Amino acid sequence: MPGEQLHIDGGETGLVLGVGADGRLHQLGLGGPERCEPDPAFPTALFPLALPTFGEEALREPALRATHADGTTGTRLVVEAMAAGTHDHGEVHEVRLRDRVAPFEVVLRWRTWPSYGLLEASSEVVNRADAPCTLHQLASTSPALPTVGAHLEHWGGGWANEWSPTVEPVGLGTRSLASAGGVRSSLHLAPLVLWSLEGPPTEEAGELLGVSVVWGGDVRIAAERTVHGQGRLIAGVQHVGAERHLGPGESFRAPSALLGWSSAGTGPLSRRLHRYVREQVVRNGARPRAIAFNNWEAMGFALDADGVGEVIDGAADLGAELFLLDDGWFGTTHPRDDDAAGLGDWDVDRRKFPDGLGPVVDRALDRGLRFGLWIEPEMVNPRSEAYEARPDLVVAEPGRERREERQQLVLDLCQPEARAQARAVVDGALALHPGISYLKWDANRDLFEAGSPALAPDRQSHLPIDRVHATLALMDEVAAAHPDVELMLCASGGGRSDLANLARFHELWTSDDTDPIDRVRLQWGASHLLPANVLGAHVTRWGQRPIAFGCAVAMSARFGFDLDPRTMTEPEREAARQAVETYRRIRTLVQQGELHRLVSPIGSPFGALAYVAEGDPAAVVFAYRLEATDLEPPSLVAPLDPDRRWVVEDATPGDPQRGEVGELAWPDAGAPSAKVWVVRAAP
Ligand code: DGJ
Repeated sequence: MPGEQLHIDGGETGLVLGVGADGRLHQLGLGGPERCEPDPAFPTALFPLALPTFGEEALREPALRATHADGTTGTRLVVEAMAAGTHDHGEVHEVRLRDRVAPFEVVLRWRTWPSYGLLEASSEVVNRADAPCTLHQLASTSPALPTVGAHLEHWGGGWANEWSPTVEPVGLGTRSLASAGGVRSSLHLAPLVLWSLEGPPTEEAGELLGVSVVWGGDVRIAAERTVHGQGRLIAGVQHVGAERHLGPGESFRAPSALLGWSSAGTGPLSRRLHRYVREQVVRNGARPRAIAFNNWEAMGFALDADGVGEVIDGAADLGAELFLLDDGWFGTTHPRDDDAAGLGDWDVDRRKFPDGLGPVVDRALDRGLRFGLWIEPEMVNPRSEAYEARPDLVVAEPGRERREERQQLVLDLCQPEARAQARAVVDGALALHPGISYLKWDANRDLFEAGSPALAPDRQSHLPIDRVHATLALMDEVAAAHPDVELMLCASGGGRSDLANLARFHELWTSDDTDPIDRVRLQWGASHLLPANVLGAHVTRWGQRPIAFGCAVAMSARFGFDLDPRTMTEPEREAARQAVETYRRIRTLVQQGELHRLVSPIGSPFGALAYVAEGDPAAVVFAYRLEATDLEPPSLVAPLDPDRRWVVEDATPGDPQRGEVGELAWPDAGAPSAKVWVVRAAP
């Protein structure tokens, strides 16, 4: 075994490991093929450890820290065995390590995804002692990286500010990026962190590593740079307050982390990630996503059957394909007239819908629209019959006050009865009418209490992780029981944008911020990981921008509306109809094509992007002028073969210049304004 090397080849992302003379596992290479050349005579002492443990590298941040059964806190691992196999899309590698002293085992696993140029890494520990031990930290992956010139890019920003970027040098010490709150974790830290080697990441040049922890709860990513210039990215579940107590023979498995290397900037990495998300993560990724018409922004809680019916008629007139009835349709003893009451009581409010939802669902179906419904199955308002009957089913600690956020509490899904209650919400909503084919699954508060009677007193700290497992299991049950129902993932906007939750859903609500100027920047950030077919983008009145401009922004993702058609002007309606007509022609391009981010809107008054695919049309280009400026716009070139002849159609909604044009020219109608061009091969 000493001297043995393991080459884990995920195409553009590779990893080379080697066993030192003393049995320790080292990282010999990471990155593109040129960084993973075999090195027959590797001096292992010069290479970093593949999994740094507390007690091994005293001066560095550990990826693994445990208190062993005998109370000792150091862990020093040696390789015991290596194994390899295959999965449907690549190879599987496993390295077993054990502590030199304590009966404590670690298993590191990798799956290669060569057709996407990605690697998936995960780790597990097993307590082989005959007494309990405690695990304080176990990262999913801990790649060593060069630090000279290195920069991090990460996104976050909270409610209505998701995917706001930060770019910073990898400084001395440990920079800890973490999400919090357990439920809407992506509001704190978006599920992608980039480490670029030569300055801030750019679209087309430079080496970089992207990491996404596939986890539906809190995540921590530590970027370390030591005084000796060594660097490492330690990525896994958030460990603060989430220690694991492992009885004899028990194990803990950290979620996997997706690693993607690019030798040519963020553009190629995003395109590989998009294909992976569409083909391997999100449900039915190849299925076209419908043009949705939501009613939340226009109607809020003020619902009535006639009003909803009129909005459905208006949505049909614009050409929408799916009507989504949002919050406010339920609650009788405690009607859901605002966010203070009703969550938990999922009976139709007969004051608002005297004949139930049947007539409005039928009206949508009659007008050729599918019907979707909003639910928030994991939460209850204390003002609900559900909570009055079973106050014991929420996350809480005995004797401590129950703190409310948005006046609601979180169901403790670790308790089987709470999980059954949440499951009944989903089944009950779908049972209201066989024509309901879509659900928006929302979750609108954080978890800041800990405590569950389902967990033993010495395992209360397991709640933040176990509740995520219970939630994902519930989502799995729902997906299996209702395979034909499409699900939108929402948590106060984009609070759940990670690949673990998304794997149970068809799309997500990118953000409650629908001001199209903000959305250009927000969707730009989200597009680093997520393909356009999962990014819900609706035209609303946020920011009071022209409807045509809002359409041109929303059409660059999963297009939809959240307007009151009754108060739209005729020119606005006409622009919306034109947008629908164009989106139907470009839907496959946008939802399945290759994204090219052309002009960054971050810190700039201009933004542009394009989707390209084999086929007809061959490309759609979106250009936005976001602010009034004296600056000259950058040149704009469609990412198409310059030696071929192309026909460019201006398809900007509401634009008098619609029709064939000679070239791509920036919109000059002031700010904000937009252009949408559809490009086809000349006959
Ligand atoms: C938060 C979501 O992000 C909104 O789109 C809307 O569904 C509200 N919840 C409803 O309460």
